[in-house]
This record gives sequence, C-alpha cells and structure tokens, in this order.
Amino acid sequence: MTIGIGLLGLGTVGAGVAAILSSPEGRHPLVGQLALRRVAVRDLSRPRPVDLAPEVLTTNPEAVVDDPAVDIVVEVMGGLEPARSLILRAIAAGKSVVTANKAVIARYGEEIAAAAAARGVYVLIEAAVGGGIPIIEPLKQSLGGNRLQRVSGIINGTTNYILSRMAEEGAAYDAVLADAQRLGYAEADPAADVQGGDAADKIAILTGLAYGGSVPRASIPTEGIDRLDSRDVAYAAQLGFVVKLLAVAQHLGTADDGTELLDVRVHPTLLPRQHPLAGVHGVNNAILVEGDPVGQVMFYGPGAGAGPTASAVVADILNIAGIRQVGGAPGQLDPLLAAGSWRLCRLVDGSRTRHRNYVRLQTRDQAGVIGRIGTCFGDAGVSLQSIVQFEGQNGAAEIVAITHEVLEQHFRTALDAIEALAEVEAVAACLRTL
Ligand SMILES: NC(=O)c1ccc[n+]([C@@H]2O[C@H](COP(=O)([O-])OP(=O)(O)OC[C@H]3O[C@@H](n4cnc5c(N)ncnc54)[C@H](OP(=O)(O)O)[C@@H]3O)[C@@H](O)[C@H]2O)c1
Repeated sequence: MTIGIGLLGLGTVGAGVAAILSSPEGRHPLVGQLALRRVAVRDLSRPRPVDLAPEVLTTNPEAVVDDPAVDIVVEVMGGLEPARSLILRAIAAGKSVVTANKAVIARYGEEIAAAAAARGVYVLIEAAVGGGIPIIEPLKQSLGGNRLQRVSGIINGTTNYILSRMAEEGAAYDAVLADAQRLGYAEADPAADVQGGDAADKIAILTGLAYGGSVPRASIPTEGIDRLDSRDVAYAAQLGFVVKLLAVAQHLGTADDGTELLDVRVHPTLLPRQHPLAGVHGVNNAILVEGDPVGQVMFYGPGAGAGPTASAVVADILNIAGIRQVGGAPGQLDPLLAAGSWRLCRLVDGSRTRHRNYVRLQTRDQAGVIGRIGTCFGDAGVSLQSIVQFEGQNGAAEIVAITHEVLEQHFRTALDAIEALAEVEAVAACLRTL
C-alpha cells in the first residue's frame, strides 16, 4: 500500500526529506512505500537540489493539505503562521502530521495535541528538538517506566559553536558570532539562538514530554550568551569549568493538589570539566536524562542540518506509516506515540529554587575586601566553595566566588549587601554553576 506524503516546505529540511524519499534503496522497506505527492514552496522559480515533476510543486500550501492523494502532511516551512493553521487544517481533515517546527509546538502544542486527539490522528515532532538525535521518542516510549528527576541539554548548536570557540581561542563573543555568520553556522538575525529563545522552545517541549504536562513557554526564565564576557569563560576554565548554554527541566516535588513542581530555565552555565555535557563541542547537541531507576542516559549527535533533521522527520513518517499498514482501528491512537498530557505541572517561583552560582566582582584592590565579601555571603546563609582574586586593571581587582548550592533568595540578599560595600565597584557577572 502506497502512502502519500505532502511536504510543506522544500528548504534545508524539506529537501533532505525529499532526498531520502526519492532514494529508498538500502533503507527500511517501508520507505519504498512512501510517495511524495505534493510540495509547497514560496518561489517556484528557485532551483531545487531534488528532481521533482513540475506538477508536484505549488505555491499554495492549503492545496497540499487538502489533496486527497496526501495521507501524511509534513510541515517543514517554519514560522508560526501559516504553519500552525496548516497543521490544524490537516488534523481537521483527518491527516496525521509530522513537523520540525519547535516554535509552533512550544507555543501551540496543547491546542494541536487536543485537536489531534479529538480527531484520532498523530502529530509527531522528533525533529523539533535535537535535529538528528532521537530524544522525543525515547522520552515518550523508551524511558516511560522512569520517574525523571532532570532533563538537561545543550540544544542549540549555534551557541555551542560560539562558546566552544570562545573557550578554545579566548576570542570575544562579537568576533566569533561574526565569524559564525560568515560560515553559515549563525543566521543573519541570530537573536533566537544567542538570546536563548530557541533553546527555551525546545526545553518547553522536552518538559511536556518528560513530566506529562505543559508549562507556559513565556514563563521559562531565559538568558542567552549575548552578554557573556570572554573573561568569565577564561576564569571558569582556570577554575576547572566549561561554560555552556544549558536548558534544564528539573522536578522539585509534588504539591498537595498533585501538581508537579518544576524548575525550567535556560542560561549560560559553568559545568565541571568532567561533567558528561562538558565535552560536547561545536554545533553538536546533547541531552542528559536522569531518572529512577535508569540513572543517567545521554543522547548526543548533530542537532541540525538537512540530513540529520530529515532522518528524524522520516522516522516519524515511518511510525505513522507502520501503524497505517497494520490497519490500526480508525481514531484509536497508541497512547505512547500520541503522548498527551496526563497531569498538571507548574513552574516554581525562581526565588525558591536552589543553585550553585558563579559571581565576578570588580573591587578596589584593598586589604580585607575578600573578608568583607565573605561575611556578606555568610550573613545571608550562602556558603562558598571557593573565592579567588584575579589581577584587574588600573589598581582594580576582580574577585570570583563560587557558591555551594543555595536558595536563590539568599544569594540575592548576599549580592545586595555586597553591592553596598564601598570597596565593590560592580557585580560584573553572575552565572549558574552545575
Ligand atoms: N535547518 C535545520 O537544521 C533545522 C533543524 C531542526 C528543525 N528545523 C525546523 O524545520 C523547519 C524548516 O527549517 P528549514 O531550515 O528547512 O527552513 P528553510 O530552509 O527556510 O525552508 C523553508 C521552506 O518553506 C517554504 N515556505 C516558507 N513559507 C512558505 C509559505 N508561506 N508557503 C509555501 N512555502 C513556504 C520555503 O519556500 P522557498 O524555498 O520557495 O523559499 C522553503 O522551501 C523550521 O521550523 C525549523 O525550525 C530546522
């Protein structure tokens, strides 16, 4: 039985998918039963890296969704609209959807999942997080028997490339970003990557799958690498740490009403050099899942690119095709593959969360400064792992302190007291430490 595929988009990912579908030799036999029937693009005159009959291409994406020869709709056009409306249109027509669109799923995932469940179709999203790395299906299926304590990851390749080069070369952020743009690793408008928004979209999606309930995307505290000073990368290295943009979802407990309490955030983080995520360099991604009883499981690989992302998209198509082949009862969904929410989750107030911190202070180079800073930390109940003075410029000193795990509220109280000290000129940087 041939299964008709409709592609919305034939850019980087869409062309990768078309390339796999047009060369089934050596792949799973189900690939040979997938037929690319219609493809929507914006510009018909643009040269394409895959050979397609002219009648397959259209500039009308609704015609792809509505085509009776299309059984599965693959949305790889990006952006919020018309992508969201087209996904909902496909669902309303009783067609399963595969999408790589993290922006849409992080914001409208609940609406889309509810529509899909009501219509009895699948919306699969393996390519939305981690490119070629299988992480969505493992969270939905392979790790389903665990209670997950934490999901943390390097899930933005652009920022990891920039941070890797800053660490290796001691180069400044702006210079590496400009180079990354020239080499095609960073977009002309890099905001979504460097300000952490892309990683926040992805951790919102992983949180929903890991903990069975969504958290509002807009409430995830997000800090990017755009204000990161290369001095902090260098000081971190001297103290045995590597700086990475980390996205973290951590289970903190269960409220009396049964709601799961989560700490979900994106920020530059100091990782001890021996941490499993510290060795992830360049554009690669990795996600570390910690659960009971499995322990630590790490997923590592290429987080973007035509081939890796298409690999994830085609895996989702095959899942749906496989179910169609065995003639699953209409409207009845495999609950693991469909992965709807099954409980309520909420983010805890940031001041009640506990973290280790790195702080860099610019101070006058005077006797006793370190002692007075230490007293401020101690008075607020913040214990220090280390406090080190680095040589500053023009008679100034730079003091770097690393705390033990402390309540955020106590850490902020200590910083307020430190800022009020006459010898302290500025709290120059504050980063989280794992
Ligand atoms: N690139 C990656 O490595 C990667 C990795 C993971 C996930 N993703 C996600 O995958 C999706 C696609 O990314 P991409 O890099 O493949 O994007 P892309 O290269 O910009 O391709 C987008 C494609 O969609 C078409 N398109 C856009 N708007 C359209 C509209 N209104 N009507 C018809 N066609 C339209 C474009 O047509 P034209 O070709 O005529 O312009 C193009 O073929 C995004 O959601 C992205 O976040 C990408």
